[in-house]
Amino acid sequence: MKPINVGLLGIGTVGGGTFTVLRRNQEEIARRAGRAITMKIVADKDLQKARTIVGERALVTADAGEVVNHPDVDIVVELIGGTSVAKDLILRAIANGKHVVTANKALLALHGNEIFTAAQKADVMVAFEAAVGGGIPIIKLLREGLTANRIEWIAGIINGTSNYILSEMREKGLGFGEVLREAQRLGYAEADPVFDIEGIDAAHKLSIMAAIGFGIPVQFPAAYTEGISRLTREDIRYAEELGYRIKLLGITKRAAKGIELRVHPTLIPARRLIANVEGVMNAILVKGDAVGQTMFYGAGAGAEPTASSVVADIVDVTRMLTADPEHRVPHLAFQPDRLSDAPILPMAEVETSYYLRMRVLDRPGVLADITRILAGLSISIEAMVQKEPHEGEKQVDIIMLTHLTVEKNVNAAIARIEALPVVAGKVTRIRMEHLD
Ligand code: NDP
Ligand code: HSE
Repeated sequence: MKPINVGLLGIGTVGGGTFTVLRRNQEEIARRAGRAITMKIVADKDLQKARTIVGERALVTADAGEVVNHPDVDIVVELIGGTSVAKDLILRAIANGKHVVTANKALLALHGNEIFTAAQKADVMVAFEAAVGGGIPIIKLLREGLTANRIEWIAGIINGTSNYILSEMREKGLGFGEVLREAQRLGYAEADPVFDIEGIDAAHKLSIMAAIGFGIPVQFPAAYTEGISRLTREDIRYAEELGYRIKLLGITKRAAKGIELRVHPTLIPARRLIANVEGVMNAILVKGDAVGQTMFYGAGAGAEPTASSVVADIVDVTRMLTADPEHRVPHLAFQPDRLSDAPILPMAEVETSYYLRMRVLDRPGVLADITRILAGLSISIEAMVQKEPHEGEKQVDIIMLTHLTVEKNVNAAIARIEALPVVAGKVTRIRMEHLD
């Protein structure tokens, strides 16, 4: 059978990994795909670099347009990143009748609905396994493996860089900046690392998973996003003393009035498997009504783990090329005309538990003032610790863990507690999930 021709856009970390894996495992991959997969043409801004990696095995160009217009290219693999040039190239590839494979979660989070609609009209596939969870085949699992289920919630460590930073800070006591630089050197971090540390990258991935899990459009702008940059070593230590680990979690849940879609640092009981996922590894918990709780674990970033997902998509597209478009798996798992309009809940309406830390004057009546405020807002305390005052200081840290409560009540409580004259500075609030 005639080989499938691939055109690659961008031969950086993931593009380089994809080229290497396709070449190293070409025999095995051809046996699976039923035909050879050939890298026909590679575009990169840095021609010299591309030529060094590719050698004489493919055409090399600095003009990405050549790839999307090449008459012999069947599948365009977009690994440039970003949301402007990449979007234009993907839409041009689709208009030219080419199938697309991409790892670009930022692009799909912002423009996925438009891209999938264009692909559907052109009868082509857009595959994006590598966009979520790096090497973990979570898209296929959610879209196909769990298709019998009504998904109840998804919660995951879905940003390798921030998990790597939290792990190194906790285990080795290293500073934030130092660990971030190492993550960049290892190729884990996004071009703009703010995306990693402020939870934006995780929210991109979460909004894609929510769409597939619940059959809703991709709605990244409605996601609540809070990163790890304000976490202190103190809170990491206090959480540990209370039997918890802090992880940056992406959580999406079916609630009575809509869908929760939120990324934030989260206390998780230290005994949970997911609390022990360290370094650049990712893990995603999915709760389905039939299957119960499932957990998927693997490398969330890096050249070859991500290439593993990119190549799987290339093989998937190769196998489905001749299938009637009506019978292919829908991009977002649900038939495009059967998506639900369930609203994304504002954060104030979300219900969860909380870790609250406040620095207060060590004098009688302070605790009573604080607990009176909490009780007045129906916030019930699950556990409480008062730390020893630091030597020579008259202030102490109080840490409270709450039972489930609605976020707007906690917002009101924090405002009132911060207004008490015995409370110094801001109250630290970290959300808490038991995931059981
Ligand atoms: P890199 O920056 O390492 O690679 C991108 C490559 O594309 C670079 O070589 C860049 O050249 C080239 N490029 C940029 N613009 C153009 C253009 N207009 N025409 C041709 N080439 C161009 O990024 P990554 O490989 O890390 O990421 C690629 C995509 O994969 C992103 O969407 C990212 O979010 C996603 N991803 C990354 C993962 C990872 O572990 N790194 C994991 C999962 C997804 P130059 O360097 O000269 O600008
Ligand atoms: N920057 C991302 C991360 C790459 O650290 O997880 C994988 O999507």
